[in-house]
Order: sequence, then structure tokens, then C-alpha cells
Amino acid sequence: MAQRAIPVKVAAAGRLAAETGFAKSCPPEVGRLLSTAAAAKPAGVIAESGTGAGVGTAWLHSGLAPAARLVTVEREPLLAARAAELFADDPRVEVLTGDWRLLEAHAPFDVFFCDGGGKRDDPERVIDLLAPGGVLIMDDFTPWPQWPPLFQGRVDELRVFYLTHPKLAATEVLTTATTSAVIASRLG
Ligand SMILES: C[S@@+](CC[C@H](N)C(=O)[O-])C[C@H]1O[C@@H](n2cnc3c(N)ncnc32)[C@H](O)[C@@H]1O
Repeated sequence: MAQRAIPVKVAAAGRLAAETGFAKSCPPEVGRLLSTAAAAKPAGVIAESGTGAGVGTAWLHSGLAPAARLVTVEREPLLAARAAELFADDPRVEVLTGDWRLLEAHAPFDVFFCDGGGKRDDPERVIDLLAPGGVLIMDDFTPWPQWPPLFQGRVDELRVFYLTHPKLAATEVLTTATTSAVIASRLG
């Protein structure tokens, strides 16, 4: 089957991931979801925790409107510096180096791809950083056909937390045959 074109910066970030041996980049299925969410917030603040090699950042960037801005944070200085080079030509993008909490200065977020820091260590804070109507995306879950979702034989309490939180309208979607993502909107 013919594949849709990959955005130029996504391809460049993919090359950086290969060069640095970074193996945790999001797949295109998640990437297109990120692009779609970013495009839905044309004057929005789009955030990402865990830049990695910049693949997810590049997908978010591919949907970024002229009046939107994108901030991402990575705690590994080498990765952050290399990823920053990919976006150096676009003043709408800022790559921060350090802990995910550096993002707080840029909140509230209209889209938050929470992919490195926050998701597990302070989930309540993650939700509080969302603007009303802000969209939270977290990938890398393991699909489970029943409720509650299990992971490694136990109830996946973290997933249940996000899917049932009273401040969120949330759902889980299949991203590949073996992975899913939680997508949630902050209630106004
Ligand atoms: C799953 S990878 C990110 C992949 C990237 N978002 C993408 O889609 O291509 C997670 C990244 O988060 C970073 N990370 C983990 N904990 C962090 C924290 N507390 N603050 C900032 N970055 C963190 C890791 O160094 C790693 O590069």
C-alpha cells in the first residue's frame, strides 16, 4: 500500500534518532494524531514532555498554525541540543533542556503530548496544566479489550486515573495493532 508523505522535519528527526541510537520515537500513527491535535488549536500553546530526537515534536510542528507556538522539554542535554537544531529556523518552537516541570512556565496548554516526565510522577499536575478544552495525549499503552484495562496481569491504575478523572473527557484509541493512546480534553 502506498504511504502518505512524511513531513520533512519528521524525516530529519528520524535520521537524528537513527544516528544517536534513540529508539523511543513515536510511530507515524501517533505522529499524525499529534499533527491533527496541533492543527485544531490555531492560536494555541502546544507542549511536549520528552523531546527525544524530536520526532514527536516534528509531527506536532507539522500541524502548527502561524499563530501557535510549540514548547518541548528534554532532560538529556545532547538530545535536547540536537533536536533544537532541527527547529532553529522556526521562532514558534522552543526546545528546553531539563526536567519536564520547566514546561510549567508556559502553561496553560492547548495540547500536551505528555511523553517524558509528568505522566507517572505527577498526573494531577499534568491535568492542571491544561487549558479548558486543552487536549492531553499519552501513547504507549497496551490495548486491553475489557474494563478495567489490565497491564502485566494487574489493573492499569494510571490509565484508569486518566480515563475516569472528573476534570477530563477521555478515551483510548488504538494506534497500532499492539499499542494505544489516551486522548483527553480538559472540561471547562
Ligand atoms: C518516549 S521518549 C520521547 C519520544 C518523543 N516524544 C517522540 O515522540 O519522538 C521519552 C523522553 O523523555 C525524556 N524524559 C524522561 N523523563 C523526563 C523528565 N522528567 N523531564 C524531561 N525529559 C524526560 C527521556 O530522556 C526521553 O528522551
